Amino acid sequence: MKVEDLEGVTFGSVVTGINLEELDKKTWQDLLEIWTDRALVIFPNAWLTADTQDDFARRFGDLEFPRTAISNMGKDGKLHKETTDDVVKVIRGNEGWHHDSTYMPVQAKAAVFSAEIIPESGGATGWADMRAAYDALDDGMRSRVSGMQAYHSYYYSQGRDGYLPSEQKDDGTYNYYGFHNHEVSLRKLVKTHPDTGRDNLIIGRHAHNIIGMDPQESEEFLDSLNEYACQGSRIYHHDWERGDAVIWDNRRLMHQATPYDMTEPRRMWHTRIAGDPRTETALNHQ
Ligand SMILES: [Fe+2]
Repeated sequence: MKVEDLEGVTFGSVVTGINLEELDKKTWQDLLEIWTDRALVIFPNAWLTADTQDDFARRFGDLEFPRTAISNMGKDGKLHKETTDDVVKVIRGNEGWHHDSTYMPVQAKAAVFSAEIIPESGGATGWADMRAAYDALDDGMRSRVSGMQAYHSYYYSQGRDGYLPSEQKDDGTYNYYGFHNHEVSLRKLVKTHPDTGRDNLIIGRHAHNIIGMDPQESEEFLDSLNEYACQGSRIYHHDWERGDAVIWDNRRLMHQATPYDMTEPRRMWHTRIAGDPRTETALNHQ
């Protein structure tokens, strides 16, 4: 196994020379240690299948959901490309920095993501290190955000960006994951990572309405915190090659999609690993 840390950023490693489908005990332990430390591990040429991707993901925990296509290709082979198309709205929404499933009662622990069909150019995936962002705050701001709590909702993020689906069900929800009608999840802005004991920010596009703050002021505050957090040595964008796979720590990192020519097909596969209910449950879903 060869491990190379990403250059110039505070997280992330590229691991080659291992077969993710047949990890012996020692290699798995080493890999888990690297992931816990680096939060993002990239495996070029992994070529995971439906079964092997989910099997690999299960090593990290129970699945929130199994391998699912993130794609502009419909089942009939037709491409979703119009901005009014509900599939396109989901894809475009992902371009804002976010942690997965902070809008659910239990936020996700991690995700395995792999590339099957990629466009000629564009479509990179970015990650941002919210531990480094928290560490970089000055003392006053660090203690200020440590006392804050914000709501996280997919209705909020998609609504604000103009990406709510056109099709709506009778109960007001939509046919897409994340539009639930439970209470809106409330989370601290600072999370203590359950494996490392280190603090990091939990922010991103789903966060809104900080408790005790005027909604407009909260929006401005969170916008500037997101902008500050996601820059410089705290972000990395991966240009995909077919067959690449990654695993990222969703408790520490945010991520974003980036645009590509929607007249070209792209199919990525996403397996979401469930958060530990003891440490990833929203404050109001305990
Ligand atoms: Fe995501």
